[in-house]
Amino acid sequence: MKRISLTQYLVEEQREHNTIPAELRLLIEVVARACKTISHAVGKGALGEVLGSADIENVQGEVQKKLDILSNEILLEANEWGGHLAAMASEEMETIHRIPHRYPQGEYMLLFDPLDGSSNIDVNVSIGTIFSVLKAPEGLGVPTEADFLQPGSKQVAAGYAVYGPQTVLVLTTGNGVNCFTLDREMGSWVLTQRNMQIPLETKEYAVNASNARHWHAPVTRYMDELQAGVTGPRGKDFNMRWIASMVADVHRILNRGGIFMYPADMRDPSKPGRLRLMYEANPIAFIVEQAGGAATNGQIRIMDIKPELLHQRVPVFLGSKQEVDLVTSYHKEA
Ligand code: F6P
Ligand code: MN
Repeated sequence: MKRISLTQYLVEEQREHNTIPAELRLLIEVVARACKTISHAVGKGALGEVLGSADIENVQGEVQKKLDILSNEILLEANEWGGHLAAMASEEMETIHRIPHRYPQGEYMLLFDPLDGSSNIDVNVSIGTIFSVLKAPEGLGVPTEADFLQPGSKQVAAGYAVYGPQTVLVLTTGNGVNCFTLDREMGSWVLTQRNMQIPLETKEYAVNASNARHWHAPVTRYMDELQAGVTGPRGKDFNMRWIASMVADVHRILNRGGIFMYPADMRDPSKPGRLRLMYEANPIAFIVEQAGGAATNGQIRIMDIKPELLHQRVPVFLGSKQEVDLVTSYHKEA
């Protein structure tokens, strides 16, 4: 099989569809290179002294792992000098990160969750990186947090890397979803799946079922019906998978279908769900929709939500369209 590198893919995509101008290509290549560096650190594990807690809390009140901080630094450093960015924002930083004055300022804005699935770092289970790319507002001077608060439908690119048995990079620039596998010997990203499509129908769901007693009625209704299996209203048995790294669960769904849910529940109303809109839900929603799936907060498309805060949380229902539509309809009926 002829090997197509990430660079060749990006260049040809621009030639054919005009969707990846040079600055955006540079941005994607720089992020991909940073993911390669993170993958290398992840692979070293204890040998690289990257495991364990850093004993600091991030803005979400979560204790940061060493690898959270390291991955954040790798992404910041890689993206500062290229002239393609106006600013960056990250799950691990309370405020936005402006490009230092010694470098030119570009027209894009990058958001990321540097290390998704942190609870899996120390137990050698798949983890990942998620990123979202927005255009800076026209004529932007000094970037502020408000410049980032654009709905997900404005994203020009999004992607995630999974550091698992293989390291893969899944990317969309709004013209379908493609998957690249890291050739670890050559150090290059090779196109391995073109135009990924989420199967319409599924028999698999992903949810943290230990939260069941806190769920709202529409989620309980939907889950009860799934769990009733072949003798219930759905007339088929469903299987459950929960990796506790969204990237890994989403990657499975992209390959063989399924629904992923992290609903809001009846506990703390100031925390509607667990996932963050700007650098988790939006980029994944973009990818999922581009692969023929759906992504809602139970009411509306994730990508139609008007963001109010950089670190705001959202309920998430995403994956195979039929299932997402059904659970969304239960919310609307309620
Ligand atoms: O980033 C949040 C996250 O780690 C996701 O990757 C994952 O799906 C979820 O949280 C795991 O949540 P829980 O700890 O409830 O299983
Ligand atoms: Mn995360």
